[in-house]
Parts: sequence; C-alpha cells; structure tokens
Amino acid sequence: MVQGRIAVIGSLNVDFITRTPRVPEGGETLTVTSFDTGFGGKGANQAVACARLADKDVKVSMIGNVGDDLFGNDYFEALNKEGIDASKVRKLKGQKTGIANIVVEDNSGENRIMFASHANYAFSEKPSAEWDMVPEEADVVVFQLELPLAVVLHNIEKASKSGKHVLMNPAPASVLPENTYQYIDTLVMNQSESAICAGDSRSLASPEELAVQYLKKGVKDAVVITLGGEGLVYATAAGVSGRVAAQRVQVVDTTAAGDTFAGGYAVQLAKRVNGQFDHKQALEFATLAASKSVQKHGAMAAIPYLGDL
Ligand code: RIB
Repeated sequence: MVQGRIAVIGSLNVDFITRTPRVPEGGETLTVTSFDTGFGGKGANQAVACARLADKDVKVSMIGNVGDDLFGNDYFEALNKEGIDASKVRKLKGQKTGIANIVVEDNSGENRIMFASHANYAFSEKPSAEWDMVPEEADVVVFQLELPLAVVLHNIEKASKSGKHVLMNPAPASVLPENTYQYIDTLVMNQSESAICAGDSRSLASPEELAVQYLKKGVKDAVVITLGGEGLVYATAAGVSGRVAAQRVQVVDTTAAGDTFAGGYAVQLAKRVNGQFDHKQALEFATLAASKSVQKHGAMAAIPYLGDL
C-alpha cells in the first residue's frame, strides 16, 4: 500500500568533483588528489535521498529540466534505476544540462560549489503553463533554490493552497519575500542560510532565536536549523523546541549532506499517519542519514540506503 507520495521540484545537475589538498592561489597550477563526475543537483539529490531512504510504501517523483545533451539522456536512466518517476522531467531542445563544479578539500571534507544553471533556469519570463510543476497526486512537495526564484515561489503557493505539505530547503540561500513563509510547512536550512534568508548574513541571533523568528514569519509546522558537527536546533508551531546531536563520524566529504537530510526528513513526513508526527524522531532519522553521507565521497553517490542506517 502506498502510504505517501513525495514530489521534488528542483534542479538536476551533473557534478564535476575535484578533491584537492588545498584550493590553489590565483595563477597557480596545482596537482590535485582526484577528479570524478556524477549526477547531482540539490533537487535530484533530494529525490534520490527520498527514494533510497524510503520503504516500498513511499513513491517519489522528480520534476525539473535537463538539456538535450548526453548528460540529459543518461539522467532519465539514472532516475529510473532509483525507482523515481521522472515522467515530469522535461528534456529541453537546445539547452545544456545544469552542471556544478565542486571542489572538496582533503582534510576537512568541506566543499565549494560553482553552479551553472543551464536547463534548470529555462522557463518563460512571465508565468505560463510550464511554471505549473506541482503534481496533483503529491502529499509532500520538496523545494530548494536552484530553479528561478519566481518559479519556486509560484509553485510553493500552489502546493500549499492545494493542501500539500511544503518542505522548503532554501539552498543556495536567498532572501525570500515575507509573504512566502505562510506557504511553508517545514523550513530546513543550515546556519548560514538561516542568516542570509533573514536578510542579515552577519546576524548575531542564536539558531534557536532564528528558528522562532521564522515561525513568527508564518512557517506552519517546523523550522529546522542544521549546525554541521553540532547537530541541529528545531522549533515547532506547537511550541516544542530542542536540539538533536550530530553523530560523531569521520567526515570525508560534506557534499549533499544537506540534501540527504532533507530527503530523509521528507520520507518521515510522507509516512505520517493520521496527522501523528514525532518531530524529534524524524530529525534523528534524517541526522543519521546525513552522517552516513559525509563518510563517503561524492554527491548522489554518497547518499545512503535505508539498509545502511
Ligand atoms: O548539494 C549538493 C549539490 O549542490 C551538488 O550535487 C551540486 O550539483 C549542487 O547543486
């Protein structure tokens, strides 16, 4: 029996991942540790995280754009292999598939990402039928910000007004219009995103204070601020708040840890029965999943399966 349906509306990229002992200076040539390519994009990573972390009773679909290049063709096969419904991914003529250049430092596992949007941004300038991306059958709809902001905002409002649970992961961070928060059920962001979205990248507010501020802006269910190795803080509209500790693990690559977390949490939301939901338990599940991903190299390649947890 299908318990829940998740739709992820977002980016599909191909990642070019360089591991290096350090980032070279301007004008310097440096021999690096390794280079790999793989599928990625915050949207597709989150869809894959949902598919890998769910049991058979959760169905996952991906909605977004790829180009009509070799990458675009291969992407459909990759999503199908994960059991993800890719029938609403558009292959756009004359467009290149989005790419991300990712530099990962050997010692810290920290990443730097340069994103070229390509097909992900190929939408008409003014609202049109192609802006309508929310599938009727979805229960939980997951968004990030690697699509044009106006398109994301349009779909968040539509999803919310048609009764879906909207999970927003505002990455890469951008200031959101104040009236957007009323359409968001769950807001998942890291600490720097929480400050940037608040319009104050040097905010002195604590994560706990920021979480409450976002609830006051209108977030309907919960705000989660992830703190890397320090775990996370959360606050719910029902007045519950707390912390979840991070797992102590050997970090080799933090790429897609946030995507794994968001996917893991979305799966728990999709399995919610009769409105019953234990936020803390769901956050612990997502934290465990993210802790597995940082122990492996790559983006999509590092996302764990339910059986790995
Ligand atoms: O969150 C990681 C992802 O961000 C990478 O897969 C890359 O494509 C960028 O979009």
